[in-house]
Amino acid sequence: MPDDTTTSRRKDAHLDLCATEEVAPRENSTLLECVKLVHSAMPELQVSDIDLSTRLFGKTLKAPLLITGMTGGSERAAQVNRDLAEAAEACGVAFGVGSQRAMGETPALAKTYSVREVAPRTVLIGNIGLRQAAQLGVDKVRAIVDAIHADGLALHLNPGQELTQPEGDRDFRGGYQVVAQLVKAFGERLLVKETGCGIAPDVARRLVDAGVRTLDVSGLGGTSWVRVEQLRASGELAEVGAQFSSWGIPTAAAVATVRRAVGPGVTLIASGGVRTGLDVAKAIALGADLGGMALPMFKAQQTGGVEAVKKAIDVVVRATTQALMLCGASSAAELKKKPRVVVGELKEWLSAV
Ligand SMILES: Cc1cc2nc3c(=O)[nH]c(=O)nc-3n(C[C@H](O)[C@H](O)[C@H](O)COP(=O)(O)O)c2cc1C
Repeated sequence: MPDDTTTSRRKDAHLDLCATEEVAPRENSTLLECVKLVHSAMPELQVSDIDLSTRLFGKTLKAPLLITGMTGGSERAAQVNRDLAEAAEACGVAFGVGSQRAMGETPALAKTYSVREVAPRTVLIGNIGLRQAAQLGVDKVRAIVDAIHADGLALHLNPGQELTQPEGDRDFRGGYQVVAQLVKAFGERLLVKETGCGIAPDVARRLVDAGVRTLDVSGLGGTSWVRVEQLRASGELAEVGAQFSSWGIPTAAAVATVRRAVGPGVTLIASGGVRTGLDVAKAIALGADLGGMALPMFKAQQTGGVEAVKKAIDVVVRATTQALMLCGASSAAELKKKPRVVVGELKEWLSAV
């Protein structure tokens, strides 16, 4: 299998950095710690009453969790994808492959993204960057998504990362036009996501006006792609990158303000520093439908393969269930109606944005 493309090498370098370096700066916060759910001492429910099931791309998930897109394009990435997908299938959560750019350039690399054999029922999501989608064209994007039998496509936005990458893009014009073309091709099978800097309410509104029905805010507080690129960069790019490794909209602020801006008809995913089931529950209380996680699932895969990922998912699901129980809510819809307290910096974001 050809595995010597620049894109594949870059993706492997990213995996190395994410496995070994501090790519989620400690000082960055999702601001989910500013959300306090209100305890019910009398929940009047049994655990089996708690229904975490949720719909995504026409299928039902057992729990509101997506392993967000990370990799593909090399033998190593293929193993990561297969393990994550197998765990997602076993646990009934959704899974996204990483950028299919390498596959667009070298079709033989499709194997490194193909996981249907181990995940026949899983909600499987393809992935491409905005600029690469424009370069490949709609037909080729559809072909790479269909080739892995995905249920939908995640279009990723990453201007902060691109500006820190020596070989990255410098021209971000025409993005909404590309989105509108992809909406025509994919309809409700299109998801638009950031990659750790968040989506602001005005951007979300324009995306929804262009026809997008699923958004993943992927906000600040977890993996910083500016930081990852800064670790690869040198000279001025590294110096400026260092100044921007805390750039972005904290995930909690992005979720709450985007939900306020787009109303109820849009599926909203909270990712970017979401690390626990309690985080997922808080994000749901703020208006999300699902939580998403990348780095923790990759790290689990690196330490213990499929079994470790399954365990990590189980712990998240157990804690989400417990949070609903202790709020006296039997479903996400009920949790959203319960009182919650928002304090500190998040309160300031919500009054300013
Ligand atoms: C190793 C790794 C590779 C990633 N590659 C991609 C990618 O190819 N496409 C994409 O949309 N996002 C990619 N991401 C971003 C994640 O999907 C997610 O938006 C971001 O890491 C924030 O989530 P986290 O804090 O849980 O890691 C990657 C993340 C990691 C950790």
